[in-house]
Amino acid sequence: PTIDSSFFIPHFTPPSMTYEFGMIGLGTMGRNLVLNIADHGFAVAGLDKDAAKVQLLHTEAAEDVSKITGRARTVQGTTEMAAFIASLATPRRVMMLVPAGAAVDSVIADLLPHLSPDDLIIDGGNSHYVDTARRVKALAEKGLRSVGVGVSGGELGARFGPAMMPGGDPEAWKILKPIFEAIAAKAPDGRPCVAYMGAGPAGHFVKMAHNGIEYGVMQLLAEAYDLLRRGLGLSVAEIAAEFEKWNTTPELQSFLVQITAIVLRQPDDRDGTRPLIDIIRDRARSKGTGKWTSQAAMDLAVPAFTIDAAVAARDISARDTERAAAAQLLTGAAAPTAAPDRAALLDALPHAVYCALVMCYAQGLDLLRVASKEYGYGTDLATVARIWRAGCIIRAALLEEITDAYEANPALPNILQDATIGGHVVSRQAPFRAIAQTFITLGIPAPALLNSLVYFDSYRTARLPANLTQAQRDYFGAHTYERFDAEGTFHTLWSEVSTAQASGPAPQAESLTKPIG
Ligand code: 6PG
Repeated sequence: PTIDSSFFIPHFTPPSMTYEFGMIGLGTMGRNLVLNIADHGFAVAGLDKDAAKVQLLHTEAAEDVSKITGRARTVQGTTEMAAFIASLATPRRVMMLVPAGAAVDSVIADLLPHLSPDDLIIDGGNSHYVDTARRVKALAEKGLRSVGVGVSGGELGARFGPAMMPGGDPEAWKILKPIFEAIAAKAPDGRPCVAYMGAGPAGHFVKMAHNGIEYGVMQLLAEAYDLLRRGLGLSVAEIAAEFEKWNTTPELQSFLVQITAIVLRQPDDRDGTRPLIDIIRDRARSKGTGKWTSQAAMDLAVPAFTIDAAVAARDISARDTERAAAAQLLTGAAAPTAAPDRAALLDALPHAVYCALVMCYAQGLDLLRVASKEYGYGTDLATVARIWRAGCIIRAALLEEITDAYEANPALPNILQDATIGGHVVSRQAPFRAIAQTFITLGIPAPALLNSLVYFDSYRTARLPANLTQAQRDYFGAHTYERFDAEGTFHTLWSEVSTAQASGPAPQAESLTKPIG
């Protein structure tokens, strides 16, 4: 198709040009992704209702030439849907990068009258997987192909190489593959950090689990910072130096550890002497992806202690006024008789943080394993771990071992059952427990770290006290229980022995036990 250039803010484009990719939503993420795609030699058209954003795209695209192709970028923006559609080569590849929720439905409604069968609609936002499942189905019924893709890495990732998690129509993915593989981050072995995550909304489900892990890791690092600051009395610069050291180790080398050090080194630009971190209010906001992860985990009966705790930690942080009042009323732990052993604590903390991080990744990946089975996504966990190694927010050296673990055993129930990873944790459990104890003794809250230890201890306990829970349920609600020594379900007519009579002969509950069904 040809385009009427009058629709466009005049710039590069010869009127008969067709574009290989279309982007709707030219906010920060959309614009940066357009520039990234154009840098790799693809012609990209952009659409946004806001002419200022279109103009900004043109300015940014014209600033220099692509360092990859050495040529000017072929980018054209417009505010007009009809012109945008007419400019795209068929089958059209149209990606939306608009805020999750109602905006996505509204863009789809605007797009539909302009699309033909076989065109591809790509949702690159942080959409809830439940919405994506609904949209994939509705679009398929109209003969349209759709791909829900999780894009991670923020502004810089979008510009120079994000991790991308596409799911949905496998044929549609094949058409997108060359572009996405070109623009995605490359792992240390050179492989692109993009791969097909599975059917339906699998791409957005994987991105959601990524964000759940992101919440857990961020909370763990915040707790470590708190222990060093308030527990050990280190200066912000000293803490930054610890994080810098951690980031050189195979245990902890990761994007989030790296940026934590950078954040801590930042002076306040109003004052120049104080660290900015000391001026930032301790009220964490969220857009909901961590909460969705916990909700999905609860729905699928997947224990996600660390992620749940990280979500709750943000919630309690937001109650700052209430906390300030409580701080006046409720005293904490008595001051320790001796100051914590600085050298021992500094030595133990990175090992404890490593163990807790492993628990966090274990939970997110377990959620993906169960969801894939339950919802039929066909997600391959080795592939997920492989594409998380670069570009995304949770990229970390430990993902190399996680990838190896799933490659060696695709049926691995949990990364803790991998001999190498499990061995690392077991050999570090002394510092893990020592740090947990230090938090408890000092009264410094560590919801994510403590729950990571609880997850580890629960997971490695062959016999949990759930026998008592079952007995109680059967007592008050005849909910039945199972026995080790016989098949089936049982109900007991529990003796009503009061405490006063309890010294008499033991009640014969056994004789009243009845198999059910
Ligand atoms: C990413 C991030 C990104 C966004 C988070 C923030 O992978 O690039 O996860 O998608 O920064 O969604 O989430 P909160 O606002 O909930 O912290």
